[in-house]
Amino acid sequence: MKRKDILGIKDLSRSEINELLSTANVMRDMIDRSEKSNALRGKNVTTLFYENSTRTRNSFELAAKNLGASTTSISVAVSSVQKGETLVDTGKTLDALKTDVIIIRHQVAGSCDLLASNVRASVINAGDGMNEHPSQALLDGLTAARYFGSLAGKKVVIVGDIKHSRVARSDVRLFGKLGAEVTVCAPYSLLPDGMDSLGCEVDCDFDRAIAGANIVIPLRVQKERMDGAYFSTREEYHEYYGVTQKRLELCADDFIVMHPGPINRESEISGEVADGKNSMILEQVQNGVAVRMAMLQLLTDGRD
Ligand code: CP
Repeated sequence: MKRKDILGIKDLSRSEINELLSTANVMRDMIDRSEKSNALRGKNVTTLFYENSTRTRNSFELAAKNLGASTTSISVAVSSVQKGETLVDTGKTLDALKTDVIIIRHQVAGSCDLLASNVRASVINAGDGMNEHPSQALLDGLTAARYFGSLAGKKVVIVGDIKHSRVARSDVRLFGKLGAEVTVCAPYSLLPDGMDSLGCEVDCDFDRAIAGANIVIPLRVQKERMDGAYFSTREEYHEYYGVTQKRLELCADDFIVMHPGPINRESEISGEVADGKNSMILEQVQNGVAVRMAMLQLLTDGRD
């Protein structure tokens, strides 16, 4: 892979995505055999998270360690950001400390692009505002591809808070590039304008959207990005847009349920479905480490 940064699925070609997924498959086999590698020995990987995270941050750190890199983690809440340091100045400081890869999560869309164009280190976007979350989409693609093989013609339904979701935007792009047919579904209040321009169908009727689906991806209602009311009650939301065992009867014969996490039980997904036999939620977490190993290895290969 000949690129300095991974900032979004939008920028990745189909062949780059395939290279990332096939390398991630190799990494997943390594993890299953409890093997590690020294491919990133002597490199430093820094996580710089301006927003909370459990899965993404930990799995990037595990991925770096599995490849023999040293890791540094900057907690923004106790860093010099609190003294007014700008993102670019923080990035230049990390450059001076000789970090090789900066993994950034930020509440502002486009902040990773700003950082990437001002630092020597490679930058990986771990989620920027409502824009993109490329490592999540790649691990979703890996999980689905390991289950189904080819995703060509598979029907993907992404349901929930599409408006505030960077995962939705990255998943629509990724599954589209892998040949799947994607529908996004939400109440009107949670559907942003122009989603169809990303190459997906848009539907407000979940029972219609889920019919014949192979891959169902519920998304959490992102209260932290909301400034008003978008639906009346949690119970009503669950009734019309929740993924329940009853609703899954409308899917294709062979289907899986994925969720980027964190999940809110009895809101966008019932506890029964989250823990059920079609749920791939914990498999996604395991594939997350493999995908992030692939991203780190392919980005640093050949970089001085
Ligand atoms: N899916 C995801 O980004 O989870 P975290 O917020 O825990 O990293």
